[in-house]
Amino acid sequence: MSDVRVKFSLDKEVEEELDVFLPPAPLLAGAHVSGLPSYHDLYRSSINDSDRFWATVAAELYFEQGSTKGLEWNFDVRKGAPFTRFMSGARTNVAYNCLERNIKRGLGDKVAFLFEGNDPRDASKITYNQLLEKVVAFSAVLRTRGVGKGDTVSIYLPMISELAIAMLACARIGAIHSVVFAGFSAESLAARIVDAKAKLLVTSDGVFRGTKPIALKPIVDKAAELAAADGCLLPKVIVVEHLKRVSLPDGGKAPQFGPSCSHERDEEWEAAMESVKGVDSRVEWMDAEDSLFILYTSGSTGKPKGILHTTAGYMTYAYQTTKMTFDVHHETDVYWCTADCGWITGHSYVLYGPLMNGLTSVFFEGLPSYPDASRLWQVTEKYKVTKMYTSPTAVRALMAVGDHYVTKYDRRSLQVIGTVGEPINPSAWRWLHKVVGEGRAAIVDTYWQTETGGHVIAPLPGATPLKPGSATFPCFGVEAVLVDSEGRLIEGPGEGNLCFARAWPGMLRGVWGDTDRFAKTYFSSFPGFYFTGDGAKRDEEGYIWVTGRVDDLMNVSGHLLSTAEIESALAAHEKVAEAAVVAAPHDIKGSFPYAFVTLNQGERLTPSLVAELKQLARTKIGPIAVPDIIQQAPGLPKTRSGKVTRRILRKIAEGFDNGLGDTTTLIDESVITQLIAGRPSNA
Ligand code: WTA
Repeated sequence: MSDVRVKFSLDKEVEEELDVFLPPAPLLAGAHVSGLPSYHDLYRSSINDSDRFWATVAAELYFEQGSTKGLEWNFDVRKGAPFTRFMSGARTNVAYNCLERNIKRGLGDKVAFLFEGNDPRDASKITYNQLLEKVVAFSAVLRTRGVGKGDTVSIYLPMISELAIAMLACARIGAIHSVVFAGFSAESLAARIVDAKAKLLVTSDGVFRGTKPIALKPIVDKAAELAAADGCLLPKVIVVEHLKRVSLPDGGKAPQFGPSCSHERDEEWEAAMESVKGVDSRVEWMDAEDSLFILYTSGSTGKPKGILHTTAGYMTYAYQTTKMTFDVHHETDVYWCTADCGWITGHSYVLYGPLMNGLTSVFFEGLPSYPDASRLWQVTEKYKVTKMYTSPTAVRALMAVGDHYVTKYDRRSLQVIGTVGEPINPSAWRWLHKVVGEGRAAIVDTYWQTETGGHVIAPLPGATPLKPGSATFPCFGVEAVLVDSEGRLIEGPGEGNLCFARAWPGMLRGVWGDTDRFAKTYFSSFPGFYFTGDGAKRDEEGYIWVTGRVDDLMNVSGHLLSTAEIESALAAHEKVAEAAVVAAPHDIKGSFPYAFVTLNQGERLTPSLVAELKQLARTKIGPIAVPDIIQQAPGLPKTRSGKVTRRILRKIAEGFDNGLGDTTTLIDESVITQLIAGRPSNA
């Protein structure tokens, strides 16, 4: 990789024209990696001498038993089933590394989390000592309710303290957590309970999102019923009575959702905690490759995949990427990742990574838009946040409402602002840099996936000259390559399929219960490589620009959705013969689901049918999957082999009238003219 040529010096006057932004001087000084040559040196050793590199990182963590083994892997399906192992034979525990290890080095009385509720009046804090006490107690609850090592626990909770406690308690005893984002529908939750064969589920009565109360327990009850009908009995549900303790939005009424413990399997959280008073619950030492958690993510075929992460590798990688990408120092930093633990970002960069680094972090239940669009900056000022991590979709939404929401709060503490979830457009990047960070903060665009466990392409705040819109260079130990459609390596500048040529500690170990799908999804497209499903470009200076999904997944507000899953939800309606869903561009969300539906003979797409179809997507998947536009299609463009050509539908959804590409292979070209003519006026 060639050294980066810096074209301009950082000068406020010419900021708008800058191509490259140098690391801010104050960050350079104390950084873990300072200056680009240091990054290159370390990167080279992480590839050429990877076992030693990772052994040095692992030595910063606690292992009950070490290992002389480093990474072992096979990515080539022609040579056998793909696998990855790290530090085979070692024994450790991730929760121990988050808690006891920090307490032993004197951080016991340090604040671990600053809980910031949906309502700004609901704020509290917890130290490392106090967090450990709760985690030990809840781990005793789990054990006494029959959960042990290797059992799975589903967690369906909003961003409240019990979510962190429940995840850590699972990790402490070697139970595998499966956190399901508390915005998923009962059907989605049921499918995840069944697939994971959960022995226990943790939830809450409900939650406020802004001024809106949302009941969660009835969703869980429905999900348990659906799971039971599918042969999976959920033996135990623990319910946090959250709504009772929150401040009600001004003028709001306490919601009446019925009793939170309505079934004999239900048990209230505080009562359960009370019942184990004085019961000790020791740490379970786990083998390096014992399972830590599963987290479901959308799959091209429609059925969600349970991404499996294990112990030593995930732990080492979440620890090290948090340290490097945000250049954290526990003595001085106040860190804040706005993500929800229902997604991988919350696992690696709200919970595990920050705790292992001994940080004080904000744990945020709220929304960036409530009580108004200045919440992120108000909280930043309140806690003097130094390192912040959010999503491009939030940035675009906040950018649209005006700078005065930002500038009325003091953001001088901010040194690093990270984004994740989708490519960040250069204008949003520049706004973050100029308006939010006032030119002082480094902007880190981090590229990664549920599957990668942690950042795989990201800048280092004290080392990498930044280009707006580029995630820059691979992280340590990651060999990012571009390959063409034949699987041949593209050297130098170019564009292609983004793959990884070697294993890194944090990568997924499998798809829960489906070995074939693991091999097929990630390793069969380009033998010898892990394929991300994304396309990317590399410029003359080696910078990587991720362009987005090249498969049948779409990214809506930073969340991956499967076109096939939405299509089958719509096709479940008795009036729908066939549905095709594509991603169409959206200013704030990045993209939105645009659906084409072919109806049965004689049916018409009335407003009430549109509403029914949207409701179907909502109940089968969740609000995020609801198509913004549903268009009636007299037919769908298909190839002679019967495949729907989504490439053409995507162009139509984007508003193109011509330039749709090759249409000669279609059975019926006239369908296209009809679809263009039938495009709704708001499309
Ligand atoms: C996309 C989220 C461009 C990408 C951590 C990837 C990004 C998918 C970026 C994974 C980024 C995430 N630039 N694209 N900085 N970050 N993506 O599994 O398409 O929810 O494959 O993990 O999000 O989404 P997932």
